[in-house]
Amino acid sequence: MYLNLLILLQLLSSAGASESGIVGGKIAKPHSRPYMVSLQHRGHHVCGGMLIREDFVLTSAHCLRSAYPLTVVLGAHNLTKEEKKSRQERKVSHYHRHPLHENITQLSYDIMLLKLHTNAVLNEYVKVIELPNKDKRIPARTKCSVAGWGKTSPDKTSGAADVLMEVEVTMQFNFECVKKWKDYFINSQMICTDDGQKGFCQGDSGGPVVCKNKNVAQDLCQSTTMYLNLLILLQLLSSAGASESGIVGGKIAKPHSRPYMVSLQHRGHHVCGGMLIREDFVLTSAHCLRRTYPLTVVLGAHDLKKWKKSFQKIQVSHYHRHPLHENTTQISYDVMLLKLRTTARLTEYVKVIGLPKEDEHIPASPKCSVAGWGKTNSNNNQGSGVLMEVAVTVEDDSECKKVWQNYFDKKQMMCTRTTGGKGFCQGDSGGPLICNNKAQGIVAFNYPERCDDSQYPHVFMNIPFFLPWIKEVLHGYGANMSLNKQE
Ligand SMILES: *[C@@H]1O[C@H](CO)[C@@H](O)[C@H](O)[C@H]1NC(C)=O
Ligand SMILES: *[C@@H]1O[C@H](CO)[C@@H](O)[C@H](O)[C@H]1NC(C)=O
Ligand SMILES: *[C@@H]1O[C@H](CO)[C@@H](O)[C@H](O)[C@H]1NC(C)=O
Ligand SMILES: *[C@@H]1O[C@H](CO)[C@@H](O)[C@H](O)[C@H]1NC(C)=O
Repeated sequence: MYLNLLILLQLLSSAGASESGIVGGKIAKPHSRPYMVSLQHRGHHVCGGMLIREDFVLTSAHCLRSAYPLTVVLGAHNLTKEEKKSRQERKVSHYHRHPLHENITQLSYDIMLLKLHTNAVLNEYVKVIELPNKDKRIPARTKCSVAGWGKTSPDKTSGAADVLMEVEVTMQFNFECVKKWKDYFINSQMICTDDGQKGFCQGDSGGPVVCKNKNVAQDLCQSTTMYLNLLILLQLLSSAGASESGIVGGKIAKPHSRPYMVSLQHRGHHVCGGMLIREDFVLTSAHCLRRTYPLTVVLGAHDLKKWKKSFQKIQVSHYHRHPLHENTTQISYDVMLLKLRTTARLTEYVKVIGLPKEDEHIPASPKCSVAGWGKTNSNNNQGSGVLMEVAVTVEDDSECKKVWQNYFDKKQMMCTRTTGGKGFCQGDSGGPLICNNKAQGIVAFNYPERCDDSQYPHVFMNIPFFLPWIKEVLHGYGANMSLNKQE
């Protein structure tokens, strides 16, 4: 139902190590998936599907390609057998393709509901499957399974399986899917799995991905609640809306109330934020150098579109990326120090920000804020022009880890809650997280293209962790200049 075509392509293009599987899977226990439907055309299996109500089957819209009309076969296991006891066959009375799915080459809105001519009889072989809640998102790395009677190998000559096969797969973060599938992957409509050679193949289209949700299973006393991990129609209707006049969810900063804020520019365009930590040094993210070299430091700004006397524009003489940050795709050690060619003039518009001490612990629930000239929501392409700010709350490391898993390294990172869609967006990278008047973090990453998604905490590089390195670099340029000016 999602990405079937594409994953098929991927399977075809990879060296086809196929065991006895759906691909890389095993034979399902007969009738252990009583919601599974075989859609057939002239007696041949063409697609999978799932019974979601006695009278409805959910499948992929593209299953209708050159296979009309379809017959719904319920309660099947071995398709080459008669299976009189378990099997039920139904005609389809209506084909409801998603209204935005216009043609069979289209990958988006690839979903279809089949109205059965007569209701299915529910019994031990035929059952309906529960659909997920509209706002339920299956966490990445959840183990799910997919089943089908499709081809068991990408090999052109291999036939369909005669018995139902199943394979365990792992949910991926959507941005990982985007990385792989580029424009073909549509965040709001699709999910993807990735387990090397495992997955589905031709003929499995329309079948469900089923995930056991641990929490729910506990609540229901270990009844195996199944989740169809479809972000179907339902999900499509819920748009992310909620963007005010913010960095996201924030407001315009009082002009020059954050005199340490730096706009890093490339050919006159704002690309990143940063902070002045000494007259001659700016702290920012290493990834700001991606495709934007050289950078110019602009100090004393509020509205970037109105050049004022308060502005100071200074060239960078040295770029010190953290030595363990090797490339631009890496998310760890994402910090950079910029040595200014000429020392900044400290004025009422240009000041340095204090850094915390190495062993300084931030109090349990500090008041923090983040500021930047970046995008004010995920959809507009323009920076805000004027400096925006928003108050944010630091999240527990365990919570950050739970969501971001291997992407979150609690030694060098920290994260903030995005409740109410508050936080940073593209173009704010490198800017400071200020807690108790000190720069505690550097804007690092969030969920791509979804700045205001409250399910994903925003991640910052943790400045105290990087202090030894910062001091070492700065020491090389004037030992008598002190860092924590404000103390
Ligand atoms: C499916 O049924 C056919 C016909 O009875 C049989 O030959 C075949 O071995 C069965 N397949 C499996 C995997 O049991
Ligand atoms: C199929 O639909 C897509 C998306 O609406 C459209 O871009 C494409 O031109 C259509 N193709 C055909 C053959 O109609
Ligand atoms: C980037 O660096 C990371 C971490 O060192 C490494 O795992 C990855 O393979 C590198 N990627 C490229 C394209 O060099
Ligand atoms: C640092 O030392 C140099 C040379 O000794 C001196 O010119 C400069 O004013 C000193 N800077 C500070 C901030 O004390």
